[in-house]
Amino acid sequence: MKLCIALDNPNKEDNLKLAKEIKEYSKDIWLKIGFRSFIRDSKEFIFELRNIGYNIFLDLKLYDIPNTMADAAEEIAKLDVNMFNVHASSGKRAMIEVMKRLSKFEKRPLVLAVTALTSFSNEEFKKIYGEDIEKKAIEFAKDAYEAGLDGVVCSVWESLKIKENTSKDFLTLTPGIRPFGESAGDQKRVANIQEAKKNLVDFIVVGRPIYKAKKPKEIVEKILKEI
Ligand code: C5P
Repeated sequence: MKLCIALDNPNKEDNLKLAKEIKEYSKDIWLKIGFRSFIRDSKEFIFELRNIGYNIFLDLKLYDIPNTMADAAEEIAKLDVNMFNVHASSGKRAMIEVMKRLSKFEKRPLVLAVTALTSFSNEEFKKIYGEDIEKKAIEFAKDAYEAGLDGVVCSVWESLKIKENTSKDFLTLTPGIRPFGESAGDQKRVANIQEAKKNLVDFIVVGRPIYKAKKPKEIVEKILKEI
């Protein structure tokens, strides 16, 4: 299991400070660049972090028509990030198109599909997607698997079922991790590290419990130890 830290600080300086502070663990840690950082600091920020030695997950959750998604995927691959994601609800045809477009790259990033956002309660999810989270997340995961993606973004609580219904090698990346009982914030389906391990999660994503901590490095070390 790998630790992926969400760099969602309100400014670039704090994100860089954190990345430099835990540089000695860069080989074991992935950094997640999401909307906030990417919109504000653009691709140069990716290059800066990569130069420190980190693996980069670009969390832009693509959702559009198939051709536009494939165009975006191609541009992302040119940035040489290690992983990015799309929404599974954009459909199997769009995901196939993305993978087809990436096939021309000798070394392409891993591609994950978001199943159900970890901030959704079952009720909220059902209102939008018409099914319970577990059932739909498995359906989405199967679509992504059949489209040739590398894995999915889901909560810890769907990870095992998704692997059982696809392959044990199909990656699961789970946000909503609260390692030491921290506040859930807007997340609804949270879990700790032991629970993630039991559910065979490949990547845990931790944001606020690290970047909002008084001593982020200590939290990172505690997490790495538990992993
Ligand atoms: O601060 P926290 O640990 O809740 O951060 C979780 C991170 O994972 C955020 O950057 C959020 O955008 C992202 N994420 C998520 N749920 C998903 C996909 C991504 O929370 N399904």
